[in-house]
Parts: sequence; C-alpha cells; structure tokens
Amino acid sequence: MSASEGKSVSASERKSTGVNEKMSAFGIAGKRALVTGGNRNIGRAIALAFAEAGVAPVILFHQDEAAARKVCAEVAGKGVEAAMYQADLADVERLRAIVRDIDNRLGGIDILVNNAAIRPNSKISEITVEEWDGVFATNLRAPFFLCQAVLPNMVKKGWGRIVNLGGTDGYLGKPRRAHGVSAKLGLAGLTRALAVEVARFGVTVNTLVPGTIDTVRPHPEWYPGLDTGFAERKERIPMVRLGAPREVADACLFLASNLAGYTTAQELFVNGGAYPLVRQPLEEYEAADF
Ligand SMILES: NC(=O)c1ccc[n+]([C@@H]2O[C@H](COP(=O)([O-])OP(=O)(O)OC[C@H]3O[C@@H](n4cnc5c(N)ncnc54)[C@H](OP(=O)(O)O)[C@@H]3O)[C@@H](O)[C@H]2O)c1
Repeated sequence: MSASEGKSVSASERKSTGVNEKMSAFGIAGKRALVTGGNRNIGRAIALAFAEAGVAPVILFHQDEAAARKVCAEVAGKGVEAAMYQADLADVERLRAIVRDIDNRLGGIDILVNNAAIRPNSKISEITVEEWDGVFATNLRAPFFLCQAVLPNMVKKGWGRIVNLGGTDGYLGKPRRAHGVSAKLGLAGLTRALAVEVARFGVTVNTLVPGTIDTVRPHPEWYPGLDTGFAERKERIPMVRLGAPREVADACLFLASNLAGYTTAQELFVNGGAYPLVRQPLEEYEAADF
C-alpha cells in the first residue's frame, strides 16, 4: 500500500461541525463503512449520507481518482474522516490487502456496501467467455470475497452490516443483459445465504434494489436510446419520476443503521412503486442474430 492510501483527508482539514443531530438517531456515528464505487452516482450519495450520520466512509474506486478525491473532500466538509483506495474488483488479492490495511490502519470495517457494478449491453450471441467472466468477477465474485474478508471482524465485534446493491432487471430479466441479470440475481441469493449464516452474530446482510435512478451513466454505449428510454419509463413509474441517488442512499443508511437490527436477508426496493417490467430493446434484432 502506498503511504497516501487510506489517509486522503487529514483530521486538520476537517470541519468541527460534528454529526447532524437528526442523523444521530441512526445510532452508527463513529463506525466505518467501505463503499465500492463510492466515487460517483449512488455510491457517492451513500458515502455522503453516511458522513451526515457520523460514519467514516472509505471509497473504493477503479478509474476515476479525481471523482474519489472530490467525494473525500465533500465528506471532510461534513466533519467526518474519509479515505480512498484504488482497486479492480476482479483482483481478489488486492481486495483482501485493502481490507487488511483498513483493519490495521483505520480500525476495521463495520459496514460494507457492495455498490459497484458493470452492465455491458450485449446480444446473447455476442457475449464472450471473457465478457461473461468479467461481469461475474466484478458484480458477484468481488462482493463475496469482500464479505469473506470483513466478516471475521464483524462477527468478533458482534455487530456488522452488509448491503448489496441489486437491480430490478434481476427479477424479470432484460434483453441484452444475460450476464448482468444473472449476476444481480446471484447477488440476491448470496445475500440470503450469508444472512442466515451470520444472523446470530449481530451481522445483517440485505439487498437494496434501486429502480430507475437519475444518474450519469459512465458508459453511454451500454445504454442505447437512454433519453427516450427514460421518458418511456417515467410513464410506467407510479411516482412519474426517476429516483434520486440520495433516495437510494437514505434506504441504505436505514439498512446500515441500528434501526434495522432485526432486518436481514431482505430485498428492499426503492423504485417509486414501479415493479420490474420486461422491456424490449429499442432496436429489435432478427432470429438470424442468434
Ligand atoms: N443507476 C441506476 O438507475 C441503477 C438502477 C438499478 C440498480 N443500480 C445498481 O446500483 C449500483 C450503483 O449504480 P450507479 O449507476 O450509481 O453506478 P455507476 O455510475 O455505473 O458506477 C459504477 C461504479 O463502479 C466502479 N467500478 C466499475 N468497475 C469496477 C471495477 N472493475 N473495479 C472497481 N470498481 C469498479 C466505478 O468506478 P470508476 O468510476 O472509478 O471506474 C464506479 O464507481 C450498481 O450496482 C447498479 O447495478 C443502479
């Protein structure tokens, strides 16, 4: 580990405003959370919501270091310590080393949020073994090995929270997302399996399932026709709007808090009342394409 890792924002840079009093009702001030993909969109909103509740977020990013630094600065502005690490989720040894480093230098992880995911848009016939394995390594294998790495300390302390980010596509399927859909539903299964195994040690494991959230998509090529798609989707959402990243983050805060002490092995949908519907791709493909 380089000296700068895990200590991106020093205590002297922090404001002394302390925890928002309303947020202290969550009962988790002083705890530390590892948030994968905490540098953007929903992950960033989760990191900021944690900071307001007095939880120190550790941001795990892949490529966008500038975004991670910005989130750390925003967290510090709320009077809470922030840290960041670079990793490719496909590299399990690197993930293990990061968890060890956080245990040794920062006192361990109380809350793990498996938020990062990739969502390539590929026809069945186009999915290669490499692409399939890449999606599973990022979206399902990494969450498991991060859980494996953080659980010993959580079990020892008799308190821990794991929140896995699911996807509505995992429930009724979605064209051109065979690997992504399979991995997301696998993550929901992993959640239930781990939850029942660790429940008696004060550790909860839940899936948080966002609906259509107003985020900036880092890979526009994975979302063809996004603008028209959003307009069409809104009409099917009873609240007639997309969700805000902060609305997903607030639900995550609840699952990570002491208010959710008896809530485990659950799937919490944050979707404006919309239930998953199978959507056809905007551009149809022919039988010959298979
Ligand atoms: N947005 C939605 O409407 C929506 C709907 C349903 C479910 N979800 C789920 O909610 C979660 C967050 O969604 P989002 O849209 O906010 O995410 P996003 O903007 O697509 O961000 C993806 C994050 O994952 C990180 N990442 C990607 N590949 C990685 C790798 N190999 N190693 C380490 N990190 C990697 C990225 O880091 P870098 O930026 O550093 O590359 C980025 O922070 C995901 O699990 C997603 O499936 C989102």
